Amino acid sequence: MTVRAAVPADLDAIMALERASFPTDAWSDAMMREELASPHGWYIVDEVAGRVAGYAGLRAARGAKDADVQTIAIAEASRGRGRGRALLRALLTEAARRGVNEVFLEVRADNPVAQSLYASEGFHEVGRRPRYYQPDDVDAVVMKLDLRGWSAAQTPSAEDAGVCT
Ligand SMILES: CC(C)(COP(=O)(O)OP(=O)(O)OC[C@H]1O[C@@H](n2cnc3c(N)ncnc32)[C@H](O)[C@@H]1OP(=O)(O)O)[C@@H](O)C(=O)NCCC(=O)NCCS
Repeated sequence: MTVRAAVPADLDAIMALERASFPTDAWSDAMMREELASPHGWYIVDEVAGRVAGYAGLRAARGAKDADVQTIAIAEASRGRGRGRALLRALLTEAARRGVNEVFLEVRADNPVAQSLYASEGFHEVGRRPRYYQPDDVDAVVMKLDLRGWSAAQTPSAEDAGVCT
């Protein structure tokens, strides 16, 4: 597994995973292209044998004390082996490096796997957005992490797990 910064040339591979992972509410190519190019974003990919097998994105505007986990997905064949957690931790490490205090995210109420991952890193529910995900009519669970507490709990080896750039 190699985690590296995403580049514009990763768009097609990321979008293939996006459509497979979020069949009813995938972002458009244009939205993802904007995300990858945004100065406020930080996107990474997980490569396996030279192929993109996962991606994740953070939005953390310069100087802001809060940030958002925008997205995270691992190819179906590669799930359940710690890769999602590794990408999430990489995003949180970058958010901490940028001086963020709190990280927010939205997750579908019918996605217990992702909720379990987030809860296990210390996120907790702070609200619900009814019928946020359309056309499925599914609520969004809004979760928040106290990033200073998370950072303090990391072992040095996890903190040092850098991302190739
Ligand atoms: C959510 C997702 C990124 C997790 O990635 P992953 O590599 O499969 O997850 P990991 O192997 O790192 O597991 C991390 C934690 O997720 C949870 N998890 C993973 N697979 C699970 C399963 N089959 N059932 C329940 N919980 C599960 C567990 O809490 C797990 O921790 P544990 O191994 O200590 O029990 C992945 O399932 C995915 O891409 N899903 C589709 C896209 C998606 O839903 N993205 C989230 C949008 S908010």
